[in-house]
Amino acid sequence: MAELPRASAWDTITLLTDVIIPTLGKGVIIRRPRMVGLAERLGLDSRAVRRMQALRKKYGKGPLITALPGRRQAVLLAPDHVEQVLAGAPEPFSPRTQEKASALSHFEPKNSLISKLPERTVRRAFNESVLEFRCPTHSLADRFCEVVAEETKILLAKCGAELSYDDFFHTWSRLVRRIVLGDGAAEDHELTDMLAKLRRAGNWGFLHPGRPKLRDKFLARLSEHLDRAEDGSLAGIIGKMPKSPEMEPTHQVPQYLFAFDPGGMATFRALAVLATHEQEAARARTEISERPAKDLPFLRACILDSLRLWPTTPAILRETTQDVEFDTGVMPKDTHVLIFAPYFHRDDENLSYAHRFNPDIWLSEKPGGGWPLVPFSGGPAACPARDFVPMIRSAMMADILKGHRLGLKNPERLDPSKDMPGTLDNYSLKLTLEIDR
Ligand code: HEM
Repeated sequence: MAELPRASAWDTITLLTDVIIPTLGKGVIIRRPRMVGLAERLGLDSRAVRRMQALRKKYGKGPLITALPGRRQAVLLAPDHVEQVLAGAPEPFSPRTQEKASALSHFEPKNSLISKLPERTVRRAFNESVLEFRCPTHSLADRFCEVVAEETKILLAKCGAELSYDDFFHTWSRLVRRIVLGDGAAEDHELTDMLAKLRRAGNWGFLHPGRPKLRDKFLARLSEHLDRAEDGSLAGIIGKMPKSPEMEPTHQVPQYLFAFDPGGMATFRALAVLATHEQEAARARTEISERPAKDLPFLRACILDSLRLWPTTPAILRETTQDVEFDTGVMPKDTHVLIFAPYFHRDDENLSYAHRFNPDIWLSEKPGGGWPLVPFSGGPAACPARDFVPMIRSAMMADILKGHRLGLKNPERLDPSKDMPGTLDNYSLKLTLEIDR
């Protein structure tokens, strides 16, 4: 069987400087706002996509093996290889990679994403069951939409005519604690702060010595909230589930709390896009007037397209557990595999809509028509909240849009007649809200 193509030392350096370092620099476990702003100003994500396209031109469909010393690292360049790799989880393409294990161990060492078989199977099944994977509407949807409506009402009363990401995020964190742990956790800002500190350590992976005392304190506090098993929250569902010792709910739930962060970013970005895209905003308003908050397919599609344009998990990582045959050659065991989502989502050599806001693609039976649009990854290790989280976000968007005309300070940042920027710094976005009479 043929050998997979190998990148030259120079191309490996450009891959590092243009793709990998900027992605790590923005922060993988918790974003570094200053770096996100810098990435938008310097157009770093667009440059990363161009670099990947240049590698494809030079090396063909790959997978491309880089020349990194001491590490066998492959980069995927072709859509069918993405499908093969994602479908092959947890073996031969394990989602438990060294980097993820060292980053997530700072706060959830027994999480499903970094668990080995057989524990992974039990923990994944637990998450699928709590989050009701593959159900478009969660069984607690009505209660969750109530929580969203209550919190959004308070936010709108407080923020007046201008909504910043900071204000939005404060509310978002409160409603996340209520949805995940119940009303008894609404005021527990300390829990979120502790997790943020641990995630900051996680950004440095094994380079950070860890904060074991803080981790124990955080996990103990989380256990107290889970023990309350409040009705109308995910903790309530967990409380009623039959348990096995391998499940380790306290190590699964931090992922819920932390993974809502990208949900907040995507929601705020989608609102900002609607503020400058009048036609889509009008469609959203019509939908809100006709359908219940838990069932808003067009608004969900707007969020999914904001995640396509600005994926919050840009690097999907896998590690081979055995030699694997591709149509172009054999990938040896213990190879690290990178799927760089922005390269596929923004590939203007293959997608006519690469840089445009195009929610309609998400309303079709097969979004992307076989092209990898993978904001939630895919296959057996896809995000189990893939349906749950867009439901919560579209409900919040609806509550903000209801009765308001949205505007964006600096609307030129998202001018619909131009390409959408490669990076969108959510921290510096400001929405204006005008009462719609
Ligand atoms: C915009 C919001 C979100 C995005 C874009 C997202 C994306 C992803 C992606 C790409 C993965 C796979 C990572 C990998 O393959 O290494 C993942 C895994 C996971 N996500 Fe999400 N996620 C989001 C929100 C959430 C929320 C809110 C929850 C829970 C309430 C959640 C729960 C999980 C869990 C438990 C896993 C691990 C799955 C496994 O072990 O197989 N996610 N998510």
